[in-house]
Amino acid sequence: MSGLPRFWASSIGKKTVMAVTGLALLGFVVGHLAGNLLVFAGPAKLNAYAEWLHARPGVLWGARLGLLAAVALHIVAAVQLAHMNRAARPVGYAERDWARASYASRTMVWSGPLIALYVVYHLLHFTFGSAHPAFDPHNVYRNVVTGFQVPLVSGVYVAAMLCLGLHLHHGFWSMFQTAGANHPRFTPLLEKASAALAAAITLGYIAIPAAVLAGWVR
Ligand code: HEM
Repeated sequence: MSGLPRFWASSIGKKTVMAVTGLALLGFVVGHLAGNLLVFAGPAKLNAYAEWLHARPGVLWGARLGLLAAVALHIVAAVQLAHMNRAARPVGYAERDWARASYASRTMVWSGPLIALYVVYHLLHFTFGSAHPAFDPHNVYRNVVTGFQVPLVSGVYVAAMLCLGLHLHHGFWSMFQTAGANHPRFTPLLEKASAALAAAITLGYIAIPAAVLAGWVR
């Protein structure tokens, strides 16, 4: 085996694929947040943005296909890495060092699948509208407001955003580890930067259902 297949078969190859696709997904999450925050600028701005996007099928479908490929590679590499790690240690740890495996790293196993489930629900809710009782394909602003006025729906979104926050926090951290970033002075700084970036993204998203429930956005 040589070249690309060999790279993919190795643990470092899969970790690199996870880091690169993770970065692409992070780019989407940040861009999507920026677009969604237009809800605070009023219906005209948010709907104009959605119309602009839908009027450019090349951009929209290019992004959708890129996203799908990134998600698929991210998940396949994660599952295969988990298998490789288990195969490398068939007996398991005699005693797990939970203190060192950070809280966020232990949550990757369930936060990843929960985010995937959330995205399926989210597409049925805001893109296809089949999970939205008052869906209007031409009024994204209205869909967001009437969607989040249901406290249970907002609760599901907030829970999903918290999972996303934990996932991003550890994701950044793992990415730096893959890149070999380990330095007594910079490592704690990177750890703080990872936490701050994850928290900013999470709070940015949570602000939307929170503002709708508080009646500030209606
Ligand atoms: C408060 C949180 C969020 C709001 C208000 C929101 C809003 C929306 C809306 C309105 C759409 C449909 C856009 C349209 O059809 O023009 C959409 C699509 C989408 N959202 Fe979100 N979103 C949120 C969080 C997220 C998060 C955290 C993710 C990923 C983890 C995500 C992933 C997606 C995806 C993949 C699509 C489909 C894009 C497409 O192909 O059209 N969203 N979102």
